[in-house]
Amino acid sequence: MSDDQVLAGADLGRGVTMPMVGFGTWRLRGSTAYESVKYALQAGYRHLDTATMYGNETEVGRAIRDSGVDRADVFITTKVPPGNVGRERATIDASLRDLGTDHVDLWLIHWPPRRGASPRMWEQLIEAREAGLARAVGVSNYSPALIDELVRTSGERPAVNQIPWSIPQYDPDVLAAHRDRDVLVEGYSSLKGTNLRDRTLTDIAGRHAVEPARVVLRWHLQHGIAVIPKSSHRERITSNFALSGFSLDQAEMARLDALSH
Ligand SMILES: NC(=O)c1ccc[n+]([C@@H]2O[C@H](COP(=O)([O-])OP(=O)(O)OC[C@H]3O[C@@H](n4cnc5c(N)ncnc54)[C@H](OP(=O)(O)O)[C@@H]3O)[C@@H](O)[C@H]2O)c1
Repeated sequence: MSDDQVLAGADLGRGVTMPMVGFGTWRLRGSTAYESVKYALQAGYRHLDTATMYGNETEVGRAIRDSGVDRADVFITTKVPPGNVGRERATIDASLRDLGTDHVDLWLIHWPPRRGASPRMWEQLIEAREAGLARAVGVSNYSPALIDELVRTSGERPAVNQIPWSIPQYDPDVLAAHRDRDVLVEGYSSLKGTNLRDRTLTDIAGRHAVEPARVVLRWHLQHGIAVIPKSSHRERITSNFALSGFSLDQAEMARLDALSH
């Protein structure tokens, strides 16, 4: 697959394009969050993933402002905690204040409230989008059945479902279910969830002379899955973003797919 195909931004509809490679910020707090995000922007990332629950929106916002990169060139995702049902508007207002922006690019329900789809919370996300506070809205940790419930009640599909995804978690049926619903899969904990010392993975990485983590991330992209690797180490932040210039062939993709449980 060509770099152009793999690295082109995902079309979320309504004129919104999401870069397929973002920077994850879970567990990055305080000055580490600030320095890591600023460095990620310098390294070329233009998509940042945060959440109200991460407690780092202030540092993410400050890092964007101090990076010299235009706000308009950065795709910002944040997430509403499921416990904030009924307080959605106050939640997005606090996120926008902390991030220092008048809109986010993607606002997600962090996980299903009380294990249900919560059409009520979903309606509030749509309302925030209509009010210009979020360019696109979506969900996280939802099953296809819960997504169907949202579509049934609102007539609106989530643009994205952010779910755990890694080589051992590869499931073509889940991917197909999202594709059928026109919902982009954004994988999280992709590196954490994969054994980076696996022999098949290190063998393929060796053939391309790249780190195993880069093979894991490239494998996601070639399956059409967006990635948001997190690191607090500069060399890893840089190398996790270097996903062009090598390509996994069909046999290599199949060998990696076969590592799923
Ligand atoms: N929606 C949700 O419920 C949800 C849940 C979890 C995560 N997320 C999002 O997804 C992002 C990514 O997931 P994650 O943070 O759980 O895990 P991840 O990005 O898969 O892995 C991060 C871990 O891998 C290490 N690492 C990073 N690059 C590496 C490399 N090149 N080689 C070896 N190790 C490397 C990091 O250590 P160092 O930092 O020490 O480099 C860190 O311990 C999060 O930051 C968050 O934004 C969302």
